[in-house]
This record gives sequence, C-alpha cells and structure tokens, in this order.
Amino acid sequence: PAEDQTRVAEIKQLLKSRNAVLVAHYYTDDAIQQLAEATGGCVADSLEMARFGARHDATTLVVAGVRFMGETAKILSPEKRVLMPTLEATCSLDIGCPEKAFSAFCDAHPDRTVVVYANTSAAVKARADWVVTSSIAVEVIEHLQSRGEKVLWAPDKHLGSYIQKKTGADMLMWDGACIVHEEFKAKGIEDLKRLYPEAAVLVHPESPASVVSMADVAGSTSQLIKAAQSLPNDKLIVATDRGIFFKMQQAVPGKILFEAPTAGNGATCRSCAHCPWMAMNALDNLAGALRHGSGEIHVDESLRLRALKPLERMLSFNA
Ligand code: 13P
Ligand code: SF4
Repeated sequence: PAEDQTRVAEIKQLLKSRNAVLVAHYYTDDAIQQLAEATGGCVADSLEMARFGARHDATTLVVAGVRFMGETAKILSPEKRVLMPTLEATCSLDIGCPEKAFSAFCDAHPDRTVVVYANTSAAVKARADWVVTSSIAVEVIEHLQSRGEKVLWAPDKHLGSYIQKKTGADMLMWDGACIVHEEFKAKGIEDLKRLYPEAAVLVHPESPASVVSMADVAGSTSQLIKAAQSLPNDKLIVATDRGIFFKMQQAVPGKILFEAPTAGNGATCRSCAHCPWMAMNALDNLAGALRHGSGEIHVDESLRLRALKPLERMLSFNA
C-alpha cells in the first residue's frame, strides 16, 4: 500500500538522521525485515542480533523483536540508545519465569551451574552463570558437562529436554514453554510427511519432544535457514514461527516450504504459528519510536553489570 511506502521512506530518513540502525528478528513482519536489509541493519536469530548490535557503531539501535532482545542490546551497549517499536512485546518464556520465584529456585540448588535461555528478563539473567540462545545451547551444556558441572536450566522445558537428550547432562528444569512452538503437533507433521515423504522436517527446539524427534534438523532460526540451503530436499516442512518464511524462501527460491501444522488433524492454521508479541512490531510504531525516541529500554546499572557477565560468557564462547 501507498501508506506503507511513505512510512518506509520516512523510516529510512529517520534512521539516517538519528544515526540509528535497525536490528530485526526473523519473526517480525516482512516489511520490517526488508527495511532492516535495505538500510544496512540485520535480520537474524537472537544470538546474531546481540552480536550485531554490540559491534555496530550507530549511536541508536532500533530493535524490532521482543523485549528481552532490546534488553540484551542495552546490557551489551549501555552507551547506545536502544529503542523498540513497543515495550509491550514480551515472550511467554520471560513471563513464565519471574525473578523472585527463579531466585528461590536457584537458592534451593546452590550446587548447580545456572544456565538461562536468552528469552528472560535482565533480572533473571543477573542471577545466572551463563546465558545461551538456541544456537549454542548444546555446545555450552556439553562444555559444562565435560567439567563435571550439574546444571539448573530455565525457563524452556522443551529446549531443556532437547539439550538434555543430546548431551546426557544432569539438568534440573524450570517449567516454562513458548506458546507458539508448543502448538506444533507430531500427528499433523506425520500426515504431511505421508503426503510428501521426500520432504525434510526442520524444527525449532522450543517445540515439544514429539515434534523435535521428527526433525531432520533442529536448531535456531538462522540454523534452520542454513539447513534449508544445505539439505538436498526440495520440499521442507518447517516447525517454527511463520515469520521465518520470508528469509527462508529468499534463501531457497526453488524449494517448496510447508508450514508445520499446529492442529492434530493435519490442517495448517495460518494464524497459529505466529508470535503475538513479535506481531506487535509494525511500521507505524517503528517510525514513532524513531520520531519521538519512545520505547526506550533502560536497565538499572547495577543490574546491567550483573546480567552482563553471563551474557559476555555466551558471546566469547566459541567466538
Ligand atoms: P532464535 O534464537 O532461534 O532466533 O529464537 C528466538 C526465539 O524467540 C524463538 O522463539
Ligand atoms: Fe517467546 Fe515464543 Fe514469541 Fe519466541 S516465539 S518470542 S519464544 S513467545
């Protein structure tokens, strides 16, 4: 639409005049991903977003994604202004792991190394020894296991049990889940596989174990896009937020991509596998943030310094 084009032109102009760069997640709207690409920003998984923002020399980072991504950017770059289209965009994993209850859980298990998923608040990160994203979680836990460490893992029980199965590590789990990935059903994927037996199955490990067990490749959003390119299959069944199809289809223009069903009857549900919080990012509120400096992320300095340690550990692991 013409209004969108006007908005896009305005955002491009504002990014320049504010010395800002746009850092977007794969689950945001196509228009936002396109803008990030066209303006020298990035479209990435959560680990790459963190790295990109920390290294970039813009004075303002505009993070299109969910709140923990903006907080992570601010913790790593306190000197930069970090803006988000909306501060309301949260994550069911973050909501399901409040700091007080989590601290009590940690206090009850002082012998365990605390590893938290990036999808958590700054306060929960501040309590952790390590932060990980899905792209390096297995490697980090393997490393801890090789040192004989027992792990306390939070908050995603599905990602946790995937890692536990892969590594055999001793992991005590928090009971959290992603409301988007939890909806994928093995039965629906089986039905699709029956129709397209030659299709490969790509799964984000926030999905339930029954779904992950059907995966040819399980991994972070970036890893799934890479797998789409490297697998020989020309049909792919993809179990993650449908926002990923924009970049994945660009990466494999000749391949046929199927959304993994979110209902057990094999019918695809176009509105189910989409994160309601990622969907809050739009051209309008993105322009508004740049225009007015609204949606700014602030993290208390003493909290920031505590959350920085486990985040830096993650960034320097295998860097
Ligand atoms: P990635 O690190 O794979 O991008 O995952 C972030 C996320 O929120 C997935 O739901
Ligand atoms: Fe959180 Fe799931 Fe949304 Fe990712 S898709 S931000 S894990 S609720």
